[in-house]
Amino acid sequence: MTSLPVPFTVAIDGPAAAGKGTIARAVAERFDLGHLDTGLLYRAVGRKTLAGMAALEAARSLSEDDLNPEDALRTAPVAEAASRVAVDTEVRAALVDFQRAFARRSGGAVLDGRDIGTVICPRAEVKLFVIADPEVRARRRYQELAGKGQDVTLEGVAEDLARRDARDAERADAPMVAADDAVVLDTSAMSIEDAVAQAIARVQSVLQP
Ligand code: C5P
Repeated sequence: MTSLPVPFTVAIDGPAAAGKGTIARAVAERFDLGHLDTGLLYRAVGRKTLAGMAALEAARSLSEDDLNPEDALRTAPVAEAASRVAVDTEVRAALVDFQRAFARRSGGAVLDGRDIGTVICPRAEVKLFVIADPEVRARRRYQELAGKGQDVTLEGVAEDLARRDARDAERADAPMVAADDAVVLDTSAMSIEDAVAQAIARVQSVLQP
């Protein structure tokens, strides 16, 4: 096993359903790193707003308990609410310290989201920007949600993703964009195994240039 420079951060960004989460989990497991899906933080805040709480209050009072059960956060309405609260600069600011502390934890960390390589960890040792064609992403997300028994259609999922991507890319604060020094990984025509293997190879090449 390669010994890690400490601290060691892998930043994985990109649009919804491009494969970030799967890749992040696999990289974390392979190199024995902590993993934080930062989308869950925004989803948890979004979920609280759906229950009537103000977004900033929700962000400032966020606790571990709010991240469970994860399935309650992985729904289309919560994703939409997440991307709405994510536009708010104060909400984003309330979540920064937790993410940065996680990123620099001893033992190393993988964070996936939209602004990890640009804003949260601009000095991350490895930066990946994972993309895939919109139709491919919609099909993947549709299969994931339908497989959990959620009442979704492929067209509806495609529309939701397009709306969320546009909002995430166009917002003024921390828009979704590839960092200049990120490696872009297009997973449109790749199997999960291939995408994971490429990400792992990238981390390996940084550890052992
Ligand atoms: O990654 P996921 O699809 O779960 O993220 C839900 C929403 O949270 C995104 O659409 C985006 O608006 C927001 N988000 C963000 N910055 C991050 C992670 C997620 O703005 N680092």
